[in-house]
Amino acid sequence: MARITASVYTSHVPLIGVAIDTGKTQEPYWRPLFAGYDASRRWFTAHTPDVVFLVYNDHATALSLDMIPTFAIGTAADFHPADEGWGPRPVPKLVGHPALAAHVAHSVIQDDFDLTIVNKMDVDHGLTVPLSLMCGQPRAWPCPVIPFLVNVLHYPVPSGRRCFQLGRAIRKAIERYDEPLNVHIWGTGGMSHQLQGPRAGLINKAWDNRFLDRLIDDPAALAEVPHVEYVREAGSEGIELVMWLIARGAMADAAGGPKPHVAHRFYHVPASNTAVGHLILEEQTS
Ligand code: DHB
Ligand code: FE
Repeated sequence: MARITASVYTSHVPLIGVAIDTGKTQEPYWRPLFAGYDASRRWFTAHTPDVVFLVYNDHATALSLDMIPTFAIGTAADFHPADEGWGPRPVPKLVGHPALAAHVAHSVIQDDFDLTIVNKMDVDHGLTVPLSLMCGQPRAWPCPVIPFLVNVLHYPVPSGRRCFQLGRAIRKAIERYDEPLNVHIWGTGGMSHQLQGPRAGLINKAWDNRFLDRLIDDPAALAEVPHVEYVREAGSEGIELVMWLIARGAMADAAGGPKPHVAHRFYHVPASNTAVGHLILEEQTS
């Protein structure tokens, strides 16, 4: 049986990728942000799983407004970094895990969550920036990655409640897989930010930190928060945070098990137009 041993949560700000790729991480603007991930990279090196199940959103890069799947799973053998307008990021391609991805698709669809199957696509900053933050700049990513896409770009977007329940179904699916794989699930995007309109630049530190508290302590109640609160309090792009509830719903306590342990927590403003939040939760081992 495969097991989920940890969940990781992080923002995906594209400019963070640019700072890494152009050697600016030690500049005064960026240094405090990257310092917040030093412990995370050490943790990931010490706890590298067999597979990362990475929940993220595409930003009309691989997908477009022609087709808007609510939830989609990448079943390909590999995924290349996307060209988002200025060339692909100089990061390794992802190696997927088609067998586990196909198994999760099968199990989750039978569990009444309709997923779109993605056999070919490139991956944008929503996926590559979290990997860079956690893994640095390796020649190859340290383990296979299954991309799992959520539409948070175009309304209607899924509710926090549905995301949390989907996480529970993903956990069940992974635990039904025959091989004894160690799996991490990541929830990415957020925190508060708004990129357009009169409120562009909105940041809400108090709400973000309360979100982190509630994600740790009472995720089932957090999952009941309606979209309008995310948009009002965390800005139009703050809705990306519903993706964190998928990863959180996949932890043991959402299925009646023990609470996870907080291995790392970090919050920083600003990074580009965004508040950056980051959390690592480990399952209790016995
Ligand atoms: C920014 C943040 C995002 O989440 C995104 O997808 C694009 C840009 C920003 O802060 O600049
Ligand atoms: Fe985004």
